[in-house]
Amino acid sequence: VAHIIEGQQVAQRIRAQVAQHAADFKEKYGFAPGLGVVMAGDNPASQMYVRMKQRACAEAGIESFTTLVDANTPHEEVEAAVKAYNDDKSIHGILVQLPLPSQVDEEKVLAQVSLDKDVDGFHPINIGALAMKGREPTFTPATPTGCMILIEETGVPISGANAVVLGRSNIVGLPMAMMLLKANATVTICHSRTRDLAGVIRQADILVAAIGQPKFVKGDWIKPGAVVIDVGTNSVADPTHPRGTRLVGDVDFAEALDVAGYITRVPNGVGPMTIAMLLHNTMKAARRTMGETV
Ligand SMILES: NC(=O)c1ccc[n+]([C@@H]2O[C@H](COP(=O)([O-])OP(=O)(O)OC[C@H]3O[C@@H](n4cnc5c(N)ncnc54)[C@H](OP(=O)(O)O)[C@@H]3O)[C@@H](O)[C@H]2O)c1
Repeated sequence: VAHIIEGQQVAQRIRAQVAQHAADFKEKYGFAPGLGVVMAGDNPASQMYVRMKQRACAEAGIESFTTLVDANTPHEEVEAAVKAYNDDKSIHGILVQLPLPSQVDEEKVLAQVSLDKDVDGFHPINIGALAMKGREPTFTPATPTGCMILIEETGVPISGANAVVLGRSNIVGLPMAMMLLKANATVTICHSRTRDLAGVIRQADILVAAIGQPKFVKGDWIKPGAVVIDVGTNSVADPTHPRGTRLVGDVDFAEALDVAGYITRVPNGVGPMTIAMLLHNTMKAARRTMGETV
């Protein structure tokens, strides 16, 4: 039976470290690190994520500010909100909650975020540096960075391993693949057009699943002993649950548990790491602003 990688515990450890750094920072400089969040529209999932991030900031001693605009706000106003945070000295990190409404050009908005405040790591220059050999991005995206830490927790060597990333989104799959490549894994990226997914996945010493399809990866697709990181967060009907729904991953956990060497749970696996890494990046941004080497 696979070892469970306890994302919640690892995340708690990182959050405690950030809280210590934030307290030291405040004592040294007289003000707290600050995160500015821009959110457009009233997508319930986005609202929940923003609330969770605000709560996590408060617990860590990071001050969070939110610019909330309605779903019909023109592109220029969303861009202006980002620029205002760029110019605000009390804001060290900027987060644009995605997705943005259709009239807002996400690419243009993300490119406006100051490189020094790009705590989500989505600025094309940070993504470009992540992709290039010999370059180091200032910030890397929170979810895949959290996944890398969970893989490292297992002690399984990444260098030389066959890693398969299922999904190629800008926020998870693509940066995940680039991080694994930087760590010298042999990386295969799978997506909706990939042929013989099961066959490709069976080669994986490390599998990261991020497609948003409940229980898609079956137990007999997994290489015995593999590290399985399940990013998927899918709500499925469950009449036995008080809410009538529950969250499951992209991997069939019950089946995979018998085959994998290490596996994350959903919930309480990758999710808490995403928040922990956002706090970590905001703390890093604040210390860099003050000229500290981090
Ligand atoms: N835990 C966290 O903190 C966290 C953070 C972010 C996302 N998530 C979750 O992770 C999942 C993925 O999120 P995302 O934003 O990356 O999703 P996304 O933007 O919708 O991208 C999904 C990717 O999966 C691929 N895909 C979809 N169906 C597939 C199939 N049947 N076979 C093979 N590939 C398939 C798509 O391929 P194409 O490119 O060919 O369309 C695409 O590359 C979601 O469940 C999301 O809720 C969790």
